[in-house]
Amino acid sequence: MKTKTILVSLLAGSLLLASTAFSPEPAARPADDTELALHMKEINKGVRGLQKMLKDAEQKDAAIALLSELEGHALAVKSMKPAQLVNVPEGDQGDFMTGYRAAIIELLGGMLEVELAVAEERSEDAMESYKKLQKLKNPSHKVYKIKEKK
Ligand code: HEM
Repeated sequence: MKTKTILVSLLAGSLLLASTAFSPEPAARPADDTELALHMKEINKGVRGLQKMLKDAEQKDAAIALLSELEGHALAVKSMKPAQLVNVPEGDQGDFMTGYRAAIIELLGGMLEVELAVAEERSEDAMESYKKLQKLKNPSHKVYKIKEKK
């Protein structure tokens, strides 16, 4: 009986050890379920919806309200850490975070630029700034978004 108990606990112990050894590190966490990603998803939805609004002068107030919301999301993620940070050598993490914040500040600045153009009814400028805003996504993701393990 005693030997059986010892055997069972040994087996349980080794199973636990194995599961810890093979459990994914934080680096393997998918980049689309972090708090940062949830804000990004709101930005994504909002930016898509904005395009139509910018073409319709009647939607000026709605566009400004939406942009204000998106600016809130951009401001929130500015103080967050991308999941990719754990894969950056310690000595480079400072520069990585400075670059990340610069990219988010550019994103926020782009949103503010669109908002101002909408408020001042400069629709061509609004559309031009909107296009610039959309182009910020891919290059930033290449550097700051964690590479998914497929
Ligand atoms: C209009 C511009 C942008 C859109 C629409 C956008 C959209 C998204 C979306 C939908 C995700 C969720 C994961 C996915 O489905 O790919 C995401 C993740 C992410 N985005 Fe953006 N993004 C934009 C700009 C930026 C910028 C400028 C940065 C600056 C570095 C950035 C950094 C990230 C990071 C780091 C993640 C991964 C989440 C994490 O690490 O926790 N994005 N983005």
